[in-house]
Amino acid sequence: MELQEALAKRASLRKFTGEMPTDAEIGAVLDAAYLGPVLAFHDMRISVITNPELLEEAQENGEAFNRMGNPAYMYGAPVWVLLSAKRHTENMPNTPYTADMLNANMYWTLGSIIQNMHLKAVELGLAACPMNTTVVALGDNAALRRRLGIPDGHIAAGSIVIGKGTQGYKERPVKPALLPTAFLK
Ligand SMILES: Cc1cc2nc3c(=O)[nH]c(=O)nc-3n(C[C@H](O)[C@H](O)[C@H](O)COP(=O)(O)O)c2cc1C
Repeated sequence: MELQEALAKRASLRKFTGEMPTDAEIGAVLDAAYLGPVLAFHDMRISVITNPELLEEAQENGEAFNRMGNPAYMYGAPVWVLLSAKRHTENMPNTPYTADMLNANMYWTLGSIIQNMHLKAVELGLAACPMNTTVVALGDNAALRRRLGIPDGHIAAGSIVIGKGTQGYKERPVKPALLPTAFLK
């Protein structure tokens, strides 16, 4: 698939058959993450969660956190790729970079990595959706974080759910109005 086609088709698809992608498909999605702009001064990890009990527990933890009566967070997706990171608490020595700046950079990096995985999922014809609720819900649950492979001292920072989908991707029109843009020539 050409890049432009993947960009135009990428969308958050939330209807999953429940069927597990193959190991090769999961591996290809992870390779896309590893090809992302990983910066050595961030300590980031990836957990690939396919264990049904852990997925269920994370779902219930999200429901308990959100209490909005919308139990559809993970949409029954069979694969949850969860990224964790160590938050920066110190300024970078001998540079003007504060811990806040480093953390902003960390989230920027993380978003790029997740986007790489989403685009690869599109190419493979897998449904995928970035997933926030079950990530932020882990903030108060160190025991579950540990069971999800997140090292002590790391925060759950971002995620994407992936699986075989019931809908196909359709090319979408470009909508520049979504993102007001200044041209300074
Ligand atoms: C950082 C981030 C977190 C998101 N978290 C969720 C989520 O928790 N649940 C969900 O259904 N969609 C989530 N989404 C998907 C957005 O709703 C979706 O990207 C947005 O509506 C634009 O639609 P599109 O991805 O189809 O272009 C998230 C997207 C981003 C970028």
